[in-house]
This record gives sequence, structure tokens and C-alpha cells, in this order.
Amino acid sequence: MYACGPERLLQALAEAGAHWPEDSLHTEHFHAQATQLDPSREHGFELVLKDSGLTLPVAPDQTVLSVLRAANIDVQSDCGEGLCGSCEVRVLGGQIDHRDVVLTRSERDAQNRMMVCCSRACGDRLVLEL
Ligand code: FES
Repeated sequence: MYACGPERLLQALAEAGAHWPEDSLHTEHFHAQATQLDPSREHGFELVLKDSGLTLPVAPDQTVLSVLRAANIDVQSDCGEGLCGSCEVRVLGGQIDHRDVVLTRSERDAQNRMMVCCSRACGDRLVLEL
């Protein structure tokens, strides 16, 4: 079943190019798949900010971006939904739970950058280059 409007076109394009080499199709989405954080399905973790020397807890109901902002760490952002890529941060350690639609599969697999507005940690810690 297709979504509607531009997302329908993107879905059809992805299906048509399913046999193309990995990451040869780059698309821009117009809305996120899941934008609401459900604390009952999330876990807390900690952020270690290498450059700042800070360790910050992220509760199940918080985004990484909101925790960084509360600590006065300046990170750009725009959409807040994992669509634009403006909140990208380098990751030095930890397993990222990618939830954006910006990074390609190979970029996700590299585990060295994340969109802090929506992506989280798979484990109990992420080390960021901030
Ligand atoms: S603010 Fe747009 S991807 Fe994070």
C-alpha cells in the first residue's frame, strides 16, 4: 500500500531502484515516519561529550538535541524530525539507533554520525564529538 502525494512517488522510486547498487538512489523526504517519542518504548542512556568533558543523561522522554540544548551545547537544527540533516553530529563511540531519513544505509552502517533531533543510542552510552 502506497502513502499519498510525494511520499508515494518516493516509495515507488525506491521499489523501482531496489536492484540498483547500494546508495545509488538519494531522495529527500517530506515528512518523518515516526516523529513522536514514546517514553514507554524507549530507554535512557548517557552522552559523553569528548570536547566539553561533560557526561549527560538522556531520559526515555528526552531527545539528544533537547539534552544538548539544556546543557547550552550549540547544535544547529531545523526540522526536528530527521528530515533535513542540519543537526548532524560526529559520533566517536557507542551504537547509534538511527531514526532519520537523511543518511544512506552505508552511512548508517559506518556508525560515525547521527541526527541528534531523533536518533538515539542502542546501548547505554554514546560518545559525541562536542
Ligand atoms: S533537525 Fe532536521 S534532521 Fe535533525
